[in-house]
Amino acid sequence: MIPKEFQIEPLHQTTYLVNGELREWKGAYDNVYSTISSTKEYQPTLVGTVPHLGKEEALEALEAACNAYNKGKGVWATMKVKDRILSLEKFLKQMQTKREEVVKLMMWEIGKSLPDSYKEFDRTIEYIQDTIEEYKKLDHDSAKFIKRDGVYAHIRRGPLGVVLCLGPYNYPLNEAFALLIPALIMGNTAIYKPAKYGVLLMAPLLEAFRDCFPKGVINVIFGRGREIASPIMATGRIDVLALIGNSKSAIALQDAHPNKNRLRLVLGLEAKNPAIILPNADMELTINECISGSLSFNGQRCTALKIIYVHESIKDTFLQKFSQKVDELKFGNPWEKDVKLTPLPEVEKPNYIQALIDDALLKGAKIQNQKGGERTENFIFPAVLSPITEQMRVYKEEQFGPVVPVKTFANIDEIIDEMARSNYGQQVSLFGKDVYELSPLIDNLVNLVCRVNLNSQCQRGPDVFPFTGRKDSAVGTLSVHDALRSFSIRTFVASKDNASNNAILEDLLQRGASNFISTDFIL
Ligand code: G3H
Repeated sequence: MIPKEFQIEPLHQTTYLVNGELREWKGAYDNVYSTISSTKEYQPTLVGTVPHLGKEEALEALEAACNAYNKGKGVWATMKVKDRILSLEKFLKQMQTKREEVVKLMMWEIGKSLPDSYKEFDRTIEYIQDTIEEYKKLDHDSAKFIKRDGVYAHIRRGPLGVVLCLGPYNYPLNEAFALLIPALIMGNTAIYKPAKYGVLLMAPLLEAFRDCFPKGVINVIFGRGREIASPIMATGRIDVLALIGNSKSAIALQDAHPNKNRLRLVLGLEAKNPAIILPNADMELTINECISGSLSFNGQRCTALKIIYVHESIKDTFLQKFSQKVDELKFGNPWEKDVKLTPLPEVEKPNYIQALIDDALLKGAKIQNQKGGERTENFIFPAVLSPITEQMRVYKEEQFGPVVPVKTFANIDEIIDEMARSNYGQQVSLFGKDVYELSPLIDNLVNLVCRVNLNSQCQRGPDVFPFTGRKDSAVGTLSVHDALRSFSIRTFVASKDNASNNAILEDLLQRGASNFISTDFIL
């Protein structure tokens, strides 16, 4: 029996946000199911419905975003920095009142545990607050003139135009807002399409979007990517594609754009972050970090440890202790106390993970833990698989789910070669103590990935740190600071140092007539 406070009534979202209006949808709807059962006999729960919009509505949203940008003269794009900040602050306040609603939907829609759902919400609030502070700093640093070779320049960062933003299901709020908020604060206008799962949780925030931004600045549409995002791209009117997801969709969307050179990309894509465990690593610490690194939120994180390399001299101890710890992880519904593993939101995921296990077993791997591969209707218990070879699917594919391949090594160069050959290059976790062994490795690994985590799991946070990747793992860099750069371009006013120009500049400044040329700054 589900405790009363976590029971859910279906939420039928009948509107979508275009041009500052919550438009009633008269067409078809998509059912949103949770893989969590509310009845004793297992059956997915209907948690609500969302509009199934089509090309026409998508193009209306695009038109609204383009009109709001209005060739760079829209109110939002030309607004004073302090006024854009006021809008964001108002939004933040309204958003904070929706915490409980969003968290409950997050648990049902994507199976994220209660503490982690709260964490995602609070982290997003903090991200917005930090973005506002960072934007003030940026504004402060630009509030001046510099002079070179007889030319005065007033240099700022300006918006790029219209942003199409698509987020992933695993962080449906945080990752989406980590794109949207910097895009908006820099003066761009946006169309946002939530992911397939974690879509209803956006509903409680639509009114806040409507109330806090000028019309058309933010438009939220529901439906299938192929049906609504591709036609938008095909118009060639999108200036920035901001997407956290997989490279297949990112490439398909880029391909739809007729002027690729005009399209700025901000992409967070696949990864297969390895853990490297050296012979003298602290075993207990390593195991704890590898458990949360590989299995928090069931391994459904782009930053998750998706392969563990352990030195052959310590392989037996590691496998035995790690497997035991995996088996101790509690599976249950997201609101249950101490739950660490939760239902998988994708109906097909248990079968996919099963196929990876079967393939590995066929090619010589063994399941090292007792519960590995146990099935329920909405879950498959994580299997620790070893030995692993390069021929196995679980070695090559980003599993994005509960299965942990453990590969042994004798010589560290083998791993460097494998990482260099890999299509991915986001992060690595390096476990060891000997500085003479660690130093050359660190110096090498920083050039293969973009974050080397010493004796700790891979992760995106804290969000002030750069989040990026090499090869197929990312395009562009996100962090509170870097995202403001990614969604803007340097643009400036230059004037030759002569009496008449200088008099105009002084006049402009004194009258405060331009929102761009200003040496005021906000504290
Ligand atoms: O899915 C990728 C997320 O950005 C990972 O964030 O490392 O904080 O869990 P996290």
